[in-house]
Amino acid sequence: MNKNFYITTPIYYPSAKPHMGHAYSSIIADFFARFKRIDGFNVHFLTGTDEHGLKIQRSAEKKNIEPLKFCDEISQTFRDLSSKLNLTNTDFIRTTEERHKNSVQHLWKELEKSGDIYLSKYSGWYSVSDEAYYNEDEIEEIDGVKIAISSKSKVEWIEEESFFFKLSKWQDALLKHYEDNPDFISPPSRKNEVISFVKSGLKNLSVSRKSFSWGIKVPDNHDHVIYVWLDALTNYISALNYPDTKDDLYKNFWPASIHLIGKDILRFHAIYWPAFLLAAKLPLPKKVYGHGWILSDNEKMSKSKGNILDPLKIIDNYGLDPLRYYLIKEVSFGNDGNISQERLEDCINSDLANNYGNLCQRVTAFASKNCNDIVPSDIEFNDDDKKILDNFTNNIELIREKIDRQDVNFYIDFIVNSLFEANKYFNDQEPWKKKNDLKRLNTIVYTTLEIVRKISFLLYPIIPSSSLKALQIFGLEEKDIILSTLSDHNYLKGNTKLNKVGILFNKIERIKEND
Ligand code: MSP
Repeated sequence: MNKNFYITTPIYYPSAKPHMGHAYSSIIADFFARFKRIDGFNVHFLTGTDEHGLKIQRSAEKKNIEPLKFCDEISQTFRDLSSKLNLTNTDFIRTTEERHKNSVQHLWKELEKSGDIYLSKYSGWYSVSDEAYYNEDEIEEIDGVKIAISSKSKVEWIEEESFFFKLSKWQDALLKHYEDNPDFISPPSRKNEVISFVKSGLKNLSVSRKSFSWGIKVPDNHDHVIYVWLDALTNYISALNYPDTKDDLYKNFWPASIHLIGKDILRFHAIYWPAFLLAAKLPLPKKVYGHGWILSDNEKMSKSKGNILDPLKIIDNYGLDPLRYYLIKEVSFGNDGNISQERLEDCINSDLANNYGNLCQRVTAFASKNCNDIVPSDIEFNDDDKKILDNFTNNIELIREKIDRQDVNFYIDFIVNSLFEANKYFNDQEPWKKKNDLKRLNTIVYTTLEIVRKISFLLYPIIPSSSLKALQIFGLEEKDIILSTLSDHNYLKGNTKLNKVGILFNKIERIKEND
């Protein structure tokens, strides 16, 4: 079985500072990366910034700064955000790096070699904000301004000499690929829109621009820069040292296991990117997953709407793990989700502080008083104990399958239920009434500690710092977190000292309006 796993986030436009939507893509990717790592996979996790194109050039011009200098600054804020979010990305790529430029120009030459590129003239609508071309039937006019119907962004008319990619030539091959690989476009609800778009007839794609210069030059024709999406999509292989297909990174990690992206950029990933790869005779990624949007006041965040949520502010107010937990739990994965301070506070108070924090606190305080602060050793499981412990063993395989289908909701529900059951178990077993039956008292404490360990392992991909803090109770470290040990009910060694770890989550007093 191939134990390599390659996950990517979109590379972000450094045209403005990162917002909650960007943080969301990255946190979810980190969740999968961490899960796969604790399941024994060798994980490559890529994120970065997409720095060329007219959108960036204009943003830099507005500030009167050289585009590269402008990108240096904002790209750094994305890099800083990665560490603020505690991401375990193994690489951060910038499309202005040499390694990337070489790779893009090589891919271009491959497309030329295969006869997929020709010079002609483009005339049509273009949205600089989306860096996308739109057909006449994809735009509308509101108050005299032409906009793209799907993204609501302004479009402008362009007419210029351009190189084209023969996208239409790949229509049937793409449709066959979708059919042969039913999971290629996920979630399934997003598949049909792509398939019907392809079936409606693909037009050849303009892949170079002549009227501005901020981009990677077309090899052998320096009047043109390569279309920013052809440039950007190549990041997924340039970070693996393409065109050196003998390089270990490329050999181990291409094709990617999953490109995690927002639903608005599905067309680029599920149509253009596979077509480029087919033309270059390179393998296609295994999956493209289009997640929903984080909405603010029920609308997608954007600079123009002024409804941007700053992840750093939320982290400062509530801490990182609560934000990670909230985004992973409350936004039903694959769908849009509205972010609300009230729900975030509910999550902290009820799930994190009450259900998880309290469980850890209660069992360790009890063990401290009644078991000399050590993991009890004289134990014998009865059916109640076995039942609650076996629930983990019985579900490991299912959890793996669900994660491979990106069923994040199943994963989080499993944890929330396990926490509920664990608290109920401790209450129902009433260890405080077993002071005359020390073996039973010890066994209840041991079982509950084992459950705390197991749940903390499962929580690690979601709230890594808090999980590691809880695991310090047992002196366990990150390297000890191994998913398969969920089925070991005697993992904790008897007589191990239990460490004091302090409060895991502080409850939030409701902040009243206008306070
Ligand atoms: N640069 C391109 C991606 C190139 S990938 C080869 C791009 N950049 S972006 O910065 O505009 O968006 C990056 C990602 O953030 C996209 O997946 C987009 O869907 C996501 N989000 C932007 N706003 C969002 C929300 N409000 N909610 C969730 N994600 C959204 O597109």
